[in-house]
Amino acid sequence: MRASVMPRSSIRRLFTSAMTLKREGVKVYGLHIGDPDFRMPQRIADALTDAIEAGHTHYSPMAGIPALREAIQAHRNTRMDIDIPLNRVIVSQGATQALNSSLQLCVDSGNRVLFPMIYFPNYIQQSTLAGIEVDVYELDESFQPLLVRLEQQVTSKTRAMLINTPSNPTGVLFPPGTVRALYDFARRHNLWIISDEAYSDYVYRGEYLSPLSIDWEFPEEERRVIAIYSFSKSYAATGLRMGYMVAPNDETAFRLELMNEPLTGSLTTPLQWAMVQALAEDDTAVRRNALLERWQLAGELLAECGLRFAKPDGGLFYFIDISPTGMDGDTFADRLLAEEHVAVVPGSGFGLVGSRGEDGNLSFTPNELAARCVRVSFAAPLADLEEGVKRLVGFIRRKS
Ligand SMILES: Cc1ncc(COP(=O)(O)O)c(C=O)c1O
Repeated sequence: MRASVMPRSSIRRLFTSAMTLKREGVKVYGLHIGDPDFRMPQRIADALTDAIEAGHTHYSPMAGIPALREAIQAHRNTRMDIDIPLNRVIVSQGATQALNSSLQLCVDSGNRVLFPMIYFPNYIQQSTLAGIEVDVYELDESFQPLLVRLEQQVTSKTRAMLINTPSNPTGVLFPPGTVRALYDFARRHNLWIISDEAYSDYVYRGEYLSPLSIDWEFPEEERRVIAIYSFSKSYAATGLRMGYMVAPNDETAFRLELMNEPLTGSLTTPLQWAMVQALAEDDTAVRRNALLERWQLAGELLAECGLRFAKPDGGLFYFIDISPTGMDGDTFADRLLAEEHVAVVPGSGFGLVGSRGEDGNLSFTPNELAARCVRVSFAAPLADLEEGVKRLVGFIRRKS
């Protein structure tokens, strides 16, 4: 029943339309996917084949192989200057499964979670499947939390709040003061914080503060952050489906480890050996710098479109209000693809709000802010990015 009402992601909708056009032989400028075209570092590919050759093809411990957990522990502790014990590191099948585990651990069916008003669509899909009710915390026109409104958005059934900075799709980084205010709010209301840090390696400007760093300023029994990381974007390895979680205390770590059993059946063993090699070199800055160039190019070209938009601080996307064209995001994306062969994602899918009909069934409609935006990815190869954004700008200028 829950699966039959779960909303479809607008990213997938555009992906399918763009694929159909490509199959007809049309050159499509793909500014819709959050998947940088970089080649995955060779050391990772080599480690994967080596692991298979060496016979690492059997079930692995539920929390992950010790070599990978140790590599993650060392990497995180160096990055964040904290002291995470080994048992708090739980490997996952991408950030996707980590999010799913965290949501199900923190919020029982029927209780409520707080998402930002503009959010990554998997969150609502996972909540719907788990029977979790969703409220949102409001964002202003620059996609920053409206802190003065937070108290009105919490209920006696709220159990967790999700923070995703830098954000997919808005690209904004919450400034340290805002992250602290969100943390204090969660503390006051005894909420878990699920911190989705999938883009934490891709910050182009501003000061990055992770909720995890704040959490470790508190004694263990008061900690509340489950931090989620992904190898997907950081190592150009989206297809390998690897990620991990950092748990705030022993009990949470134990529960998350247990949940790996029904949710993964055990993580893919050779891929874990490959990720040990991913972490053996800290070369994420190479990809970050290549993306910085694309971020800059896209920003300069988009400035010509005549619309006002918030420049992202990190991640892979510009999120632009295109309402002056007289179209909503869905119509805009469909027409842009048909007329200019440029694929962008309608904002509607990033702001779905659920409501129950008289029959008690859930249905979803986009909030007003999301519906008037589109997401433009700058993860595409430079030449495609340049031509695609030029076409997009020309389209906006003609329609505004
Ligand atoms: C904000 C955010 N969180 C999580 C994920 C999932 O990442 P993974 O590929 O590690 O499952 C994505 C993927 O696009 C994302 O954008």
